[in-house]
Amino acid sequence: MTTGRLKIGVFDSGFGGLTVLRALLPLLPHAEFLYLGDTARLPYGSKSRATIVRYALSSTRFLIEQGADFLVIACNTATALALKEIHDAAPVPVLGVIETGANEARSRSKTGDILVIGTDAMIGSHAYAAACSARGLRTLEKACPLLVPLVEEGWIDHPVTAEVVRIYLTELLEQAQEAELDPDTLVLGCTHYPLLRPMMEAAVSPGIRVIDSAQATASQAARMLASHMLPGQPPGDGTGTLSSRCRFFATDSVAKFQGLGARFLGSAIDEVELVDLGG
Ligand code: DGL
Repeated sequence: MTTGRLKIGVFDSGFGGLTVLRALLPLLPHAEFLYLGDTARLPYGSKSRATIVRYALSSTRFLIEQGADFLVIACNTATALALKEIHDAAPVPVLGVIETGANEARSRSKTGDILVIGTDAMIGSHAYAAACSARGLRTLEKACPLLVPLVEEGWIDHPVTAEVVRIYLTELLEQAQEAELDPDTLVLGCTHYPLLRPMMEAAVSPGIRVIDSAQATASQAARMLASHMLPGQPPGDGTGTLSSRCRFFATDSVAKFQGLGARFLGSAIDEVELVDLGG
């Protein structure tokens, strides 16, 4: 990877954040990327706030040590539970995925009623509901704790996963009806879920649009960098290959990261560096 260009650190507990990296790559053709998947300590979504903060901070420190000039927290759970602590600890600008996702929901919804799904910890924090409420949206949230393990297992087209998705979303739609909501938007409040989008779309009525924050986060990162940082950075030529523009780090199996990561990223991942961030 070349040096001297703007380096963007992207962090998730696992592979999910690769959906955000995938959206960032074409929007920031002159930047280089450092992607960390904290796969050894995943899932974050079933952990306590204190543990999530501790993991998120050690991941942040690692990316800063690698030279990140800007951080994208491509994990809703870490954003919901640890964004303030990450901001306080990082000497560089930090962008999470929840405010950007709530902006996207605001711009897409006509009825103003939103459904949000995510991990136990993320939903328990009510961070999405707060961000949506601040934008005048009514929100019904549901934790779907089985989905991250199924995605991490690679069961992306599996009938068991389709059935689990159907059960969760049927329950959510029934709760929305009981609450007399008229939802037209389902927000995927976990960066692992975009891989299950076809199953999600099949499980809700056509009147409900399924959205995620990957594209909105990438656009917001590009705006922040254009106004604050890019002018002072060496431009680069924007034509590098994936392996010349990205370094990938994982805290557990490199082979699994390459295999499953390619499905999230939509491109082969040639090299992954194994790192130890402790317990
Ligand atoms: N991808 C993470 C998120 O967006 C969740 C995965 C986990 O539970 O670690 O919340």
